[in-house]
Amino acid sequence: MAAVNLAAIARPAAGQSWDAQAYARNGRFVADFGEPVVAWLAPQAGERVLDLGCGDGALTQKLVEAGCAVLGADASVELVAAARERGIEARLFDAHALPFVSEFDAVFSNAALHWMKRDPDAVIAGVFRALKPSGRFVAEMGAAGNVATIRGAIYEALSRRGVDASALDPWYFPTAAEYRARLEAAGFAVRRIESFARPTPLPGDVSAWLRTFARAFLDALPQPEQDEVLREVQDEVRAHLAPHGVWIADYVRLRFIADKKNIL
Ligand code: BEZ
Repeated sequence: MAAVNLAAIARPAAGQSWDAQAYARNGRFVADFGEPVVAWLAPQAGERVLDLGCGDGALTQKLVEAGCAVLGADASVELVAAARERGIEARLFDAHALPFVSEFDAVFSNAALHWMKRDPDAVIAGVFRALKPSGRFVAEMGAAGNVATIRGAIYEALSRRGVDASALDPWYFPTAAEYRARLEAAGFAVRRIESFARPTPLPGDVSAWLRTFARAFLDALPQPEQDEVLREVQDEVRAHLAPHGVWIADYVRLRFIADKKNIL
């Protein structure tokens, strides 16, 4: 494997810093909801798997338990450290510049590709290169319309303060047609791709979710304004996302299996 310059990539994923403990509190459901993606992967004992955007490794653990030899990759120092604490082999990588060539039977990714916004084609090309000739890419990410109610309320709250939220937005939520086209352009044969609404109960209120997942927007504001924005967004979306008191976020997923085509 080519050497990586850790100093150059030892930074949070674009636009987002991570607090591993807050992630464990407010983001545990991410791994819980990832189990169907593991089922799509159908991991086989002995397979070499790259978990791209492994986070704190809670779901990576399932692949290890299935008997796979797994490498977890993440751009967050904090989350890589949390994954290593579970005993997972995890390393810092910039997903836009993956260094692997024909090393993995499968590349797996859950709830991570939407953070890799700068150049989705570079990410897909790196995954394609990383796979062995008959390898598969199995993933779930946010799809077009994901968290649209929350995102809309953030945009409005920032716009009232003269801040352009689109310039801060760290999320890439494509349609199935768009992502299929990118996969095919990279050389993948798309076996299956689906987009579907998945209303997602939150462990706390939407403010806790925002503090964990929407830092890129909040960090652009001074602290007192961050608290105001949290209140405003919560008030704005409450009727739609917590009509009966339980917070349910308007997640929309994109899930796919893509096979590396054998080039003879
Ligand atoms: C998601 O998993 O779809 C997601 C999580 C946090 C922020 C944005 C999207």
